[in-house]
Amino acid sequence: MSTILITGWLGYIWSHAAVVFAQKWYDIVIIDNLSNTNLSVLEKLTTLIGKFTWRSRQPKFYQIDLKNTEEVRKVFHENKIDGVIHFAAFKAVEESCEDPFKYYENNISGGVSLYKVMNEFWIKNIVFSSSCTVYDTMNVTPPYDEQTPKKTINPYGSTKRMSEIILEDLSTHKGFNTILLRYFNPIGAHPSGLIGENPKGIPNNLLPYIYKVATGEYEFLNVRGNDYPTPDGTCIRDYLHVMDLAEAHVLAYEYLQKNKKFIPSSAGPEWFLDVFNLGTGQGTSVLEMIQLTEKAIDKKITYKIWPRRPWDAPTVYANPSKANTILGRKTQRTISEAIQDGWRFITKNNS
Ligand code: UD1
Repeated sequence: MSTILITGWLGYIWSHAAVVFAQKWYDIVIIDNLSNTNLSVLEKLTTLIGKFTWRSRQPKFYQIDLKNTEEVRKVFHENKIDGVIHFAAFKAVEESCEDPFKYYENNISGGVSLYKVMNEFWIKNIVFSSSCTVYDTMNVTPPYDEQTPKKTINPYGSTKRMSEIILEDLSTHKGFNTILLRYFNPIGAHPSGLIGENPKGIPNNLLPYIYKVATGEYEFLNVRGNDYPTPDGTCIRDYLHVMDLAEAHVLAYEYLQKNKKFIPSSAGPEWFLDVFNLGTGQGTSVLEMIQLTEKAIDKKITYKIWPRRPWDAPTVYANPSKANTILGRKTQRTISEAIQDGWRFITKNNS
């Protein structure tokens, strides 16, 4: 079976993807610099993979910063890698506006260092985790398909778009086989409650914040604006279960394997490039998320209406039909299930 390299600075999404890849009998090598997670995630991952796949072969882990090209080279020397699933990126929008350099350094320089080594070792298959944030969400009416005009409005989003452009260049000029996956809003956790989203510090995203209110750690949720042009005045997003998202990575990687080209022709390198939205196509408002959570976990979520968050798009949801048709992916889990699965993780980790 082939070996994939998973890079992550998030813990959250890559750990779920690793479980799904392991279930499909891939061998896994992981690079993470542990800046936003810790080794306990790896221990839990090991437990999960052992439990669900009966495998003795566990992921091989390297605590490395991708910017350290020499160290990355070592990983490629020591392992016969067939392809890369590149998640590693910082993702806090407001922080990216305060310190754009941190985002350029991590999200762009880290990626460039990785692609350079991939190119040296002639490993040219990559699935890149991008975001719906690349679309012109302030001016174009959803649903967004993959052809929607692009315009980024914060350094985080710009690093995603810049990375896409770099990979497009590397496909055209260096023969990279690339799939760009544009995520909408991943939520929830593995149903075991062993792995999930556990951000350090104050959560930026909606559901992790709601959970902190549910546990009593925070008194109330700030609903950031209720005067948007939406039915209840609060922003609408396309939330999808992280396991649905993780499973789509395996489908995308298999699709890449079927379509990849790697024999350079005299006319120049041949390459494959495609892009897919990963969303459900269903929009849910902030107030609806509060109600769904109250029902799903049977807790009261107190909230206060707060001023708008700068640069928040009123309504964002996907046209997911390309991924559904070509990759054969389906939304298998409801938002309520995602909320319950995420809550199981929170309660297990708080006890
Ligand atoms: C944005 C990006 C997404 C990216 C994510 C990374 C867009 C459209 N989406 O997510 O691609 O992966 O950042 O962090 O650019 N809210 C509150 N109170 C809170 C927190 C959030 O009311 O305490 C509201 C926000 O105003 C927003 C909604 O909840 O309307 C969702 O917010 P969040 O979870 O941060 O996701 P996005 O901003 O959509």
